[in-house]
Amino acid sequence: MRIGADYYPEHWDKERWKIDAQMMVKANIKVIRIGEFAWSLYEPEEDRYDFSWMDEALDYFNQYGIKVVLCTPSATPPKWMTDRYPDIFQDDIHGNAKIFGTRKHYCFNSDTYRKKTSILVDKIAERYAGHPAVEAWQIDNELGWSNTTRCYCDKCKKKFQGWLKNKYKTIENLNKKYGTVFWSQIYNSFEEVIIPRAGACYDTCHDTQGQNPGLLLDYDRFSSDSVISFMNESVDRIKKYSNKPITTNMLDAAVNSGTGIDYFKCAEKLDFVSWDNYIEFQWGIAQAATVSRDHALLRSYKKRPFWVMEQQSGACGWSKMGPTPTPGKLRLWTYQAVANGADTVVYFRWRACPFGTEEYWHGILNHDGKPNRRYKEISQIGFEMEKLSQKFGALQPKAKVAIIKSFDSEWSHSIHKHVEGFQYDELLLSYYRPFYDMGIAVDFVSPEDTLEGYSLVLAPAFLIVPEDSRNNLENYVKNGGTLLISFRSGIKDESNNMFQETVPGCLRELAGVEINDYDPLLEKHIKVSGIFGKGQADLWCDIIEPTSAKTLGYYVEDFYAGKSCMTVNKVGKGNVYYLGCDLDDDAMRQLMEYLSEKADIAMEFMNIEGVEISNTTDGNQNAVFVMNHNAYPIVIDMNHSYTELITDVKIEDTLTLEPYGVAILQ
Ligand code: GLA
Ligand code: ZN
Repeated sequence: MRIGADYYPEHWDKERWKIDAQMMVKANIKVIRIGEFAWSLYEPEEDRYDFSWMDEALDYFNQYGIKVVLCTPSATPPKWMTDRYPDIFQDDIHGNAKIFGTRKHYCFNSDTYRKKTSILVDKIAERYAGHPAVEAWQIDNELGWSNTTRCYCDKCKKKFQGWLKNKYKTIENLNKKYGTVFWSQIYNSFEEVIIPRAGACYDTCHDTQGQNPGLLLDYDRFSSDSVISFMNESVDRIKKYSNKPITTNMLDAAVNSGTGIDYFKCAEKLDFVSWDNYIEFQWGIAQAATVSRDHALLRSYKKRPFWVMEQQSGACGWSKMGPTPTPGKLRLWTYQAVANGADTVVYFRWRACPFGTEEYWHGILNHDGKPNRRYKEISQIGFEMEKLSQKFGALQPKAKVAIIKSFDSEWSHSIHKHVEGFQYDELLLSYYRPFYDMGIAVDFVSPEDTLEGYSLVLAPAFLIVPEDSRNNLENYVKNGGTLLISFRSGIKDESNNMFQETVPGCLRELAGVEINDYDPLLEKHIKVSGIFGKGQADLWCDIIEPTSAKTLGYYVEDFYAGKSCMTVNKVGKGNVYYLGCDLDDDAMRQLMEYLSEKADIAMEFMNIEGVEISNTTDGNQNAVFVMNHNAYPIVIDMNHSYTELITDVKIEDTLTLEPYGVAILQ
């Protein structure tokens, strides 16, 4: 485990590099990420290249033993390029071309841009593949950031029509799968198929503008595929010259919304995944459980150690700032990342930039470049990481619980969201949080992933269940697995149409239930009671009629009082639970305690509000991280004696942690 910094050599006079390098070495900063926004320096005019500045920067930091993650610079095309080739730009949902200025305004399906990017990536990779400082590569920067995954331009429309032809082969098949007979939308050729720009009903329904749900979901899939294929062109170019690991820095839902990219697919050709973790900034404050969930997602995309490529390190925002991190929080956030499986944490950014869009985006250092309290805190972290990395390899939580995350379902949920207030990522979090509170690790798995090794699998709103995934679930349960399926699962086919079978559709046998009536709760709250104690549903009530299943919970009020809201069905050696409603936090907590017990998953520590516990191993040794997210000290009664590994202090009967304090126990 180690720390790094996002650095912009091009933002500072070269004599400043010396001070920065020396301060980095002093703080045990081992790696810098550079070059993601430097195209206009590499190629100031078309086909005239200048690599001298990067040569110098790499050589300079290399002499201090500082490693480099070198980026491909396709996030910001130079002005001469967008002037000469305006077809590079994206079109927004209204069909208006984006303009120069800011960043990420290019279309992933622009052949011109793909060609220009490949030429420069080729040159950069060829030139620097062998440089001793270059340790890894980052493709572009935050692909899909700020809703740029979906482009509505004619280039995308043509590519989309080709994508559809490849998928459906005949236009008759597309018409049938989409149900275009509805509202007279039958297409006579693929060339007629539209890109779902803001249509006539846009003002009625901004989410979908009333477009065909099959078309919308395919367009989301096409957009995700387009970004991934753009990225993989750069991956392939780099692999021609370098065998050093390649990543891209992803975004997750801590405060940002999802990007519309299927990150499981995006991770396939990457060597490791990384993400940008901003917790308290201009756009909101993320709860510790949400940040932990996002680390778990990143750990899950490649099932191996990941990086935080941008870890907040100061007060940050564009037009206005979020809070300055309270003393201790940078250290807590860093250990939270490591405790959830990160092996490198790179702070964004080394020093606040005095010019440009992000002049308010503080890094470790302020605009004056002087050591400050955040630099001192990070120096302490660097020192501790140096010590701990002598003892441990990459520490990873070993999860026995898996939550199925389906991007197809995510996009379908956002197209037709069932009921006001339904939000897939929030639902996933409500399934994750009880385990977070219990200190029990949870992985996220794609519908295709194997379920081997998991004692408990949760499928919240697993809306579109591919055939092989359904069989995978059935085999898992038959071999003794414990599965929970929730409402809005298994009821749509892969064309985003409703099955014409009784809910829960393709999961009906497995769950041993039928649902002939359900109640989307609009301004209604329904009390429930069951093995989860007393609870309340605020979103949805499936009125369950058990067939082979037994009732474990029921509704307490409304016309369906006494009807089943939760069941269990014995299948082979295992059990399938069906939860027909959402539950408040307390009931969810009791439900997950019940299921953990049924699945023989022990809770290691008694839980204290605001204390995150993570059991990790590097394959040889174990370590327990105890992290106090509270603004006040906590005292934990210990049932064993431990050594605290940062201070080497023996912990006998109680562990005391200061506000935002961290202990690593063995
Ligand atoms: C993202 C980008 C960074 C920076 C921050 C602040 O994380 O990757 O370049 O712009 O946002 O906006
Ligand atoms: Zn486009």
